[in-house]
This record gives sequence, C-alpha cells and structure tokens, in this order.
Amino acid sequence: MTPDQALSDLKRRGLLRSLRALPDNRGKLEIGGETWLNFSSNDYLDLAHHPALADAATAAVRQLGCSSGGSRLTSGHLTVHAALESALADFTGMETALVFGSGFLTNLGVIPALAGNRAQVFCDRLNHASLIDGALMSGGKWHRYRHNDTAHLETLLSRHPAQEGETRIVVTDSIFSMDGDAAPLAEIFAIARRAGALLVVDESHAIGVLGPAGAGLCAELGMTPDVLTCGMGKAFGSYGGFAACSHALAALIVNRARSFIYSTGLPPACIAASHAALGLFIEHRGALGEGLMDRARHMHALLAAADFAMPPAVASPILPVMVGDNHAALAFADRLAEKRILCGAIRPPTVPPGTARLRLTVTRAHSAADLAAAADAFAAVGRDLGVLQ
Ligand SMILES: Cc1ncc(COP(=O)(O)O)c(C=O)c1O
Repeated sequence: MTPDQALSDLKRRGLLRSLRALPDNRGKLEIGGETWLNFSSNDYLDLAHHPALADAATAAVRQLGCSSGGSRLTSGHLTVHAALESALADFTGMETALVFGSGFLTNLGVIPALAGNRAQVFCDRLNHASLIDGALMSGGKWHRYRHNDTAHLETLLSRHPAQEGETRIVVTDSIFSMDGDAAPLAEIFAIARRAGALLVVDESHAIGVLGPAGAGLCAELGMTPDVLTCGMGKAFGSYGGFAACSHALAALIVNRARSFIYSTGLPPACIAASHAALGLFIEHRGALGEGLMDRARHMHALLAAADFAMPPAVASPILPVMVGDNHAALAFADRLAEKRILCGAIRPPTVPPGTARLRLTVTRAHSAADLAAAADAFAAVGRDLGVLQ
C-alpha cells in the first residue's frame, strides 16, 4: 500500500488524524477574538500557567540553561534532578524515584528493565499505549486480561505460571486515560502478591488529583506497588515522567532502561516546574484535586441529566461521552467546535472499535457557568446528530 492509499484508507474508516495548531492551551482561551472552552486538556489543576511554575522554570533556565546537556548517566544528572526525585519519593511514600523524559518513556523503559531476559507481562486490555509498548518491548510473553476483570487476571496468572528464571509482571493504569474509571487496585495488589508477580501501576491521571494530598490512588489505599509510574504533563502542568520504587529496582532500571540510559535528561525548566507543582500539591493538601472532582461530578450530573449514557461513577476528571461510530464522533467534535468548544474525538486504536467517543476533561480553569454552557452545547449537538433521542 502506498502512503496515499494508506491515508485514504484511514480517511474512509474515519481514522485519519491531523494536527491543528492552537494559539494557546488554557482551559479557556482566546482564538481570533473569541473565547473558546477547552475540554481536551490534561492540565487538570490549571497549573501550566501558574506563576509558581513559571517563576521556577524561568529561574532554572537563567541559572542552568535550556538543556541538561546529556544523558543522566553522563553529565545530564543535575542536583535539581536529584532534589525532585527525592521529593517525589517522599510524596508517593516510595523509597526512591527516577525522572524520565516523559511518561511514555518511563513506561517504555521500566517494563523491559523489570522483565530482564525472560518475563511474562499481564496487562489490562485498556492500559495506556505506553504500557502496552513497554510490555511488547520487553520481548516477554504477554497476556491481556479483560478490563478491570480481576477474576480473568487470576485465571491468566494460574494458567501461565512462572518458568525457571522468569519474572512475572502485572501492569495496570490506576485511572484509565480514555474511560476515566479506576482500577480495582486493592484486589490487583493482592492477586499480584499471591502470585509472586511484580506490580506496576501507572498513576498519570491520579497523582495531583486523587488520594491524600493528591498522592494518588495507591497512597489512598495504603498500598505500595513495586513500581509506580506517572507522567508530569497532566496534573503537574509540566512535562516529564517518573518511576517510584525501591532502591534495588531503581538500580536495575538505571542499568537496564534504554529510554533512561540513551536519552538526554529532562531540561532544568521542566524539573523546576514539576517541583513547583509538587510544592503546590503539598501546600494545598489535596484541596486542588477535591475542588476539581466536585466540578467533574457536577459536569457528569449535567450530562446525565441531558440523557447521555454516562458511566455510573465519577472516578476522575475524565468523562467519556460515548458516540460509537468514528465518523459520528468526528462530526460531534466539529459541531462542538462551531460552538467554540474544543473536545477531542477519540477513535481506534486509542479505544476499541465501535467505542469512539468525545473525551471530555474538566479542569480547574472551568467555572460552573462554563460547565453549564458546555453541557448545553453537548446536548444540542447530541440531539442534532441523533446521539441523543
Ligand atoms: C496513563 C498514561 N500513561 C502515560 C502517558 C504518557 O505520558 P506523557 O504524555 O508524559 O508521555 C499517558 C498520556 O499521555 C497516559 O495517559
């Protein structure tokens, strides 16, 4: 198939993606003199423009420059990296933490590093792409259990016992990025322990938002996974990723994770902004996340009242508005844009076939009036397109 044929095939199936440059990335932004509401951003706590982050990043650039200048194992490991890692370890209640270039690179590095030469990886079917790619890159056998189906996980673990010298790893998101629901972490933790498997939990959509002082769902449950991973481009309002774990596993990761070893260390500005965000989580003792979750519950109620088939519970600020068909989801997003609302149409392979949706994220930039206006717009478009009867 030529590139042109491949592109027209994607278009025919409603799967073509393209870039659109925005002048700004706030939850509420100005485009050509008009105010738009942005419901596609993961800047949940509206920290990306917070003066504390901007000041910290600016000072870091002035003092340390724009790049770390090398891999962490050569000259790119600065005292600011070490300080952030120590603060992240304290915050998550883990022994230590390692900062990576992004959340994707964290998962891509950590899973193969734990896997070593021989492993079996057990993944939730709806795990984020970076966890799936990490499992694939590990070169081990991998098994996918039905979404949040702990009985299925247990069956797969008993069907595929560890062979001599083999590591088994259970991998799950704590909050699933496209559905916004939570994993049954306490059960998964118990199952992994019983099976003698390592447990990796991705807390990218939970840290800063959920748990004590925003320390995530594992902290809320008082459980310590073997490795907790997180991207810092979401509630942190910054960029980068980290893995928190024991000293022994961190040493293994530093020695084996290719995305850590063969990649330039995160620039000082990102480190400083992330550290400032962490300071705000701690200073507000979870109140930022609690306020956000109140708004998410309010938006969920508005959409349910408009007759959208919403998930029964609100576990996070991610609210999926299900459409089903790929073309219909694109049309929905286009019609929302006519009403000056940005909300991404999420289609396969990001979500399973037949479950295209609008992924609506509430952030602290949205007022009650913004939420009401958006819910009205969703209802009007839903009725016009026949998503609502
Ligand atoms: C659950 C999850 N893990 C990891 C990532 C990747 O993080 P990053 O954007 O920092 O690469 C994302 C989203 O982007 C995510 O949703």
